[in-house]
Amino acid sequence: MKNSQILIADDDQTLCYLLKEELVLEGYNVDIVFDGKFAIENLKKKSYDVVLLDLEMTEIMGEEVLDYAKEHHPTTQIIVLTGKSDVRTAIDCIKKGAYDFLTKPYEFGQLVVVIERALEHKDLLLRNTILSSKLNKSVPHAIVGESKTIRDVIGLAERAAKSDSNILLEGETGTGKELFAEFIHQNSNRNKKPLVTINCASLPDQLIESELFGYEKGAFTDAKTSKQGLVEIADGGTLFLDEIGELSLTLQPKLLRFLEKGEFRRVGGIANLTSDVRVIGATNKNLMVEAENKTFRRDLLFRLNVITLTIPPLRERSKDVLLLAEFFIQQKSPVRNIKRLSKEAEISLLNYSFPGNVRELAHIIERALIFSEGEEIQSKDLNLPIIAAGNQDRTFDESGEVVPLDEIEKVHIKKALDANDWNRENTAKALGIAQKTLYSKIKKYNLK
Ligand SMILES: Nc1ncnc2c1ncn2[C@@H]1O[C@H](COP(=O)(O)OP(=O)(O)OP(=O)(O)O)[C@@H](O)[C@H]1O
Ligand SMILES: [Mg+2]
Repeated sequence: MKNSQILIADDDQTLCYLLKEELVLEGYNVDIVFDGKFAIENLKKKSYDVVLLDLEMTEIMGEEVLDYAKEHHPTTQIIVLTGKSDVRTAIDCIKKGAYDFLTKPYEFGQLVVVIERALEHKDLLLRNTILSSKLNKSVPHAIVGESKTIRDVIGLAERAAKSDSNILLEGETGTGKELFAEFIHQNSNRNKKPLVTINCASLPDQLIESELFGYEKGAFTDAKTSKQGLVEIADGGTLFLDEIGELSLTLQPKLLRFLEKGEFRRVGGIANLTSDVRVIGATNKNLMVEAENKTFRRDLLFRLNVITLTIPPLRERSKDVLLLAEFFIQQKSPVRNIKRLSKEAEISLLNYSFPGNVRELAHIIERALIFSEGEEIQSKDLNLPIIAAGNQDRTFDESGEVVPLDEIEKVHIKKALDANDWNRENTAKALGIAQKTLYSKIKKYNLK
């Protein structure tokens, strides 16, 4: 695979130089070191895909390098290059987790085959790590929409995908930011490498840092072994930072440093590691305003919003409402039982403002499919909330005075909480605000 990072560690300097030359011609990026000691030093600074490791070296032997690599870079693949005399040791190395070994002299072509297989193995490992990581839940599907507004954004996203710049996705909750992040990754030159997602609002600070940048053994009580961070796993691919507006002021400088230099440190680590990722951030906040209020660093914002895509709310693309409704009916129905929307149900949907955007529409359809009887979904099956309409008449109170905004907000939040059985997560989503904001409002208005 082109651009893979390879480290050769062998005390035979001539061989190192020759091998490097040939591997570079094959399209690999190659570093060479002449002792195990320097191999470990390099591994501290950089993540390699493959290490070609000689066993007999002067100061530090190959086996020790293997132990170090397995502990600190579990996905780096080690290929042992060995003389006839140490085949036993080579086999021990396989038991310890080396990918394969070759006995000298070997054919160059044979080495390339082994390297390619090792790289595939590494990709598989990474993919498994990502699949098993609960942070990633991507099931990409097409972006449905025919309105000009959404077509324009898709066009921009396609062009943005081809560049390698960082991208900021703005938009209310449920507008499809995550879907767009997947779309951009799939349409970029990085699509053979992973898309790794982390939600900055879902975890406490320390956990975000250790998920993002990894940690070294002993960094905290539970750190029995070292762990790679998501930025390392995403190497060559895309890192999607969802709800980036929630990232704390403590972590913002660390992310900034990574965006500026591609450098980071694992928690408890002292080495500066590097990784090459494109960052896509998503937020339903206005980060310019956050920057004014000093809750989001301006320098970080400017690193992120090289390209900004604003995903329009569903109420501004009513042309897509019925199309999306059809799409969700198809998606969520059993194969041979596809229902239709009655004319009246269509009109109800078109009149509704969807504060929770496309996600809300998907939920409405899912529920309607369960409660509707017969072939057609009726308006009542949609069970559209009337909270929004209820508030519109409250501009003036009984004595003709304008009602303060706070009061409207209080009532609206209370009704939204009731409608969601006081599930804070769902309520915050439906209201299009962060959970943290919802908590502070509940406290402010003393809601119970
Ligand atoms: N244009 C679209 N076509 C098809 N499905 C869509 C579209 N937009 C959004 N969806 C679907 O709606 C749901 C919500 O979208 P998504 O999670 O991407 O929104 P979001 O902007 O990230 O929301 P939040 O800010 O709450 O995280 C997902 O299931 C997504 O697949
Ligand atoms: Mg999202």
